[in-house]
Amino acid sequence: MNALTHKHILLGVTGGIAAYKAPELVRRLRDAGADVRVVLTPAAAAFVTPLTLQAVSGRPVHQELLSAEAESGMGHIELARWADLILVAPATADFMARLAHGFADDLLAACCRAARAPIAIAPAMNVGMWQNAATQRNLRQLVDDGVRVFGPGSGSQACGEVGEGRMLEPLELVAACAGQFGGGALAGRRVVVSAGPTFEDLDPVRFIGNRSSGRMGYAVAQAAREAGADVTLVSGPVALPDPPGIAVQRVRSALDMRAAVLAAVADADVYIGTAAVADYRPAAPATQKIKKDRDAFAIELVRNPDILAEVAGLARRPFTVGFAAETDDVLAYARRKLDDKRLDLIAANAVGAGLGFETDDNALTLLWPGGQRELPRASKAALARELIAVIAERLDARG
Ligand code: PMT
Repeated sequence: MNALTHKHILLGVTGGIAAYKAPELVRRLRDAGADVRVVLTPAAAAFVTPLTLQAVSGRPVHQELLSAEAESGMGHIELARWADLILVAPATADFMARLAHGFADDLLAACCRAARAPIAIAPAMNVGMWQNAATQRNLRQLVDDGVRVFGPGSGSQACGEVGEGRMLEPLELVAACAGQFGGGALAGRRVVVSAGPTFEDLDPVRFIGNRSSGRMGYAVAQAAREAGADVTLVSGPVALPDPPGIAVQRVRSALDMRAAVLAAVADADVYIGTAAVADYRPAAPATQKIKKDRDAFAIELVRNPDILAEVAGLARRPFTVGFAAETDDVLAYARRKLDDKRLDLIAANAVGAGLGFETDDNALTLLWPGGQRELPRASKAALARELIAVIAERLDARG
């Protein structure tokens, strides 16, 4: 039986262009066995008609907070009591602000206030609105209040811009809802993900680093969370905000990252090393700023520990996944790393040509002992979800 069978999902639709996907979302939720009622805000009704949503949900659509007709039928308290989960999709920046600040001045906001059931939002907005300081502040407040956040994804947007802020696709939202009822592919699993670069200090103001933005690793952590896992993200220095619902540990150097990862994997089921860990660090970082009084000088570098190999070598090792970033002979080098480090799986990515480091898109080849799968070019968020699905499959196969 599906995790959503007979579950009552109250779908709140707010006024953004992604509301056009609401009828498809209702159909997919019902296909998965859920019973769906829809609450439409006045702005959402400008994008999608109540009649369409009534037809696909098989239920009257709820719009009014203060009408005798509404309250004599299913009013906001009854709707809130009926729901096993409230999903707001799309959730606009305006709705997030009103939810974060405790408003209850329309039917959907009032249902959210009255609900004892969990609330999840699927944000959908222009990239600038998503990154805006007030939106991020409201997001943090909502996460603190226990609201689940599904997405957003990134890619090209209706406004013509490219970036974060796209609503997740209906099938991804159905999977995320299933995850709330213990049905996610990684439900009950503990996953540790490393992400971003490491910085190896030369002196108090300079360091050796690399171009990893953390986007791939943060997407992997979020996909694991959406699949129901309890996720710890060990992150090198990046400019990304903490993803909602994930325990984030910020570190700087490879040695810091090693300590944080080894502590976190002690009781983990899966470790995914997406971090671009520096292979070398300065042997003796200067304690004072190095002066430019010489025409040339050499810096002695010493080898950093290989965190991934150490995790794979633990007596009680988690399912261990590496990444391989290569400019040439990508698959041959990746297969060698898989074998040498005795990994369970490796994700190989060619770097350059708009892929790999600092990009929104990537392409991966997944290799494991005796198998291989191509994941063609797509957003890092979409690839991360496919990677997590394969990891869950292989983990289950291992038993
Ligand atoms: O952060 P983004 O801008 O989104 O870019 C994503 C990415 C290109 C960084 C990512 O997709 C990726 O490929 N990460 C691994 C990069 C890398 O350092 O590859 P590597 O071939 O040098 O290392 C192989 C594996 O060993 C990696 O899993 C790495 O985390 C691990 N490693 C490496 C060295 C070391 N000292 N300790 C390690 O654990």
